[in-house]
Amino acid sequence: MSLPATVQESPLLLGCWRLHNCSTSEIERLIATALEDGISQFDHADIYGNGESERRFAKAVADLNIPRQSLQLQSKCGIRDGFYDSSKAHLLTAVDGILKRLNTDYLDTLLIHRPDALMQPEEIADAFDVLYSAGKVRRFGVSNFRSLALQRLQKATAQKLAINQLQFGLAHSAMVDSGLNTNTGFNGAVDRDGELLDYCQLNSVRIQAWSPLQFGFFEGNFLGHAKYPELNHTLNNMAQIYGVQAGAVAIAWILRHPAGMHVVLGTTNAQRLQALSQATQITLSREHWYQLYRAAGNRLP
Ligand SMILES: NC(=O)c1ccc[n+]([C@@H]2O[C@H](COP(=O)([O-])OP(=O)(O)OC[C@H]3O[C@@H](n4cnc5c(N)ncnc54)[C@H](OP(=O)(O)O)[C@@H]3O)[C@@H](O)[C@H]2O)c1
Repeated sequence: MSLPATVQESPLLLGCWRLHNCSTSEIERLIATALEDGISQFDHADIYGNGESERRFAKAVADLNIPRQSLQLQSKCGIRDGFYDSSKAHLLTAVDGILKRLNTDYLDTLLIHRPDALMQPEEIADAFDVLYSAGKVRRFGVSNFRSLALQRLQKATAQKLAINQLQFGLAHSAMVDSGLNTNTGFNGAVDRDGELLDYCQLNSVRIQAWSPLQFGFFEGNFLGHAKYPELNHTLNNMAQIYGVQAGAVAIAWILRHPAGMHVVLGTTNAQRLQALSQATQITLSREHWYQLYRAAGNRLP
C-alpha cells in the first residue's frame, strides 16, 4: 500500500485532553502556536471530553485550513465507562468513531490506552491487521503497559508496537529510579514498572512521557508549587543559565535522557506552550540533569 507523505514527528506532542474546556479561538491559537513551534504531533483519546476534544480539534483544524498531511494525529481507545475493553469489536468501532470525530480517513498512530486484564493479544492483533489493511491506522502502540504485557502483545501481532505512553517527569521518575538504585535497600530500588525503560530501549519502543509537569496521580503541577521548593529553585537557576523558562528546563530534562523520549504537553495556554517548546532548543549538561534529579527529592546511592 503506498501512503501519502506526512510531516515528520516532532519530539513534543500537544496533549488534547482538556481541549473540550476551551473556546474555539483558544483551540485555534493553541494549534497554530504548536505548528509554529515545530510541534506536529497531537495526542487524543476517545474519552477526552467524551469525544468532544477530538470533535473541537477537528473543527479548529478545518477553520484554520490546515492540510491533513502536516499533522501527525494520534488517538487512544480501550477505556470504557467503568471498564477496559480491548476486544476486536470494540477497537474497530472505537477507531471508526475517532476517525469521524477527527474528520480524517486515517490515524497516524493508535494506542491501546490502558492494559486490559481480559486482554487477548490475538484479538488485538486481528483488529490491528484490519485497521492497517483498511488504511485507517498507519502505526500502533500502547499506553501504560509493563514490559511483559507489551512483549506478549508484540508476539501476537505482525504490526510493530512503536510507542508506549507512560507517566514520566521530574516528580514521577520511577523509570530511572529503579535502575539507579539497583541492588540497594533504598526506596528507589523498588521496581514499579518492570524495567520498562530498558525494555523499551532494547526493543526500539518510543516512550511518550505523559503529565510531564505533574506530581502524584494528577495531584498538581510542580512548577511554582510549595511542595517542591528546592526543585523550583534549581529550575529557576537553570532557566537563567539556559535562557528559557523553568518549565522548558523541566521538559528538557526528559528530552535529555538517551531513550529519546517524546513529551506530551498538556497545557491549554498558547503562551505556556510556546515557552515550553523552547525545551527542544537546549541540551542540559550531565551535571545539571543530575542536579535536577536530586532537587526533585531523589538521592543517589
Ligand atoms: N496515556 C495516559 O494514560 C495519559 C494520562 C494523562 C494524560 N495523557 C496525555 O498527556 C497530556 C499531558 O498531560 P497533563 O495535561 O497532565 O500534563 P502536564 O503538561 O504535566 O500538565 C498540564 C496541566 O498543568 C497546568 N499548568 C499549570 N501551570 C503550568 C505551567 N506553568 N506550564 C504548563 N502547564 C501548567 C496546565 O494548565 P493550563 O492549561 O492552564 O496551562 C494543565 O492543566 C494530556 O493532554 C494527554 O494527552 C495521557
